[in-house]
Amino acid sequence: MEVAIAALHVLAAAVWVGGTVALVFIAVPMARMFEGEDRARALRRLGTGWRPLGWSMLAILAGTGLVLAGHDGVFSGHASTRFYVLFGIKVALVAALAAGAFVHDFLLGPGLARQIREGRPQTLRRPLVVVGWCNFTLTLTVPVIGTVLAHLT
Ligand code: HEM
Repeated sequence: MEVAIAALHVLAAAVWVGGTVALVFIAVPMARMFEGEDRARALRRLGTGWRPLGWSMLAILAGTGLVLAGHDGVFSGHASTRFYVLFGIKVALVAALAAGAFVHDFLLGPGLARQIREGRPQTLRRPLVVVGWCNFTLTLTVPVIGTVLAHLT
């Protein structure tokens, strides 16, 4: 059973990381080839397409991650100090990633699409790009910490 949970954790991580890389390096640059209403529509379509998938993966990662942590003795006080420290860092980074993804997906993204559609100055572009790259960095960091955790047990 633990192996199945670990496999689900890794598969969900693969979809999250792979999907994020495909969005950043392929889909978003493609949407940028359009202008005005077409660009807003393409970006909105990316948002509505990715959000349910991406957020489902984060939910699966959190759920399976907590089960794995239980197997690693986190909740029964049986894990090593090193494991607790690294696990704490991982959970904090995942919380930052979820918060960043929320701001990106539900506040800045739709806000920028509205500005583009209405032909207003695109003041949200810069903060959106900054939050996006922070999220991307966390997306690459968290699985590395997970891999180290798996080798500490
Ligand atoms: C609250 C959320 C999360 C928790 C509680 C959590 C917990 C864990 C734990 C305890 C392990 C070690 C498992 C073991 O001992 O075999 C692990 C491994 C791992 N985690 Fe997470 N995780 C979470 C989110 C994520 C996210 C968001 C990603 C990717 C973006 C991720 C990617 C990985 C990877 C790649 C491994 C290594 C698996 C292996 O090498 O076998 N995790 N995680």
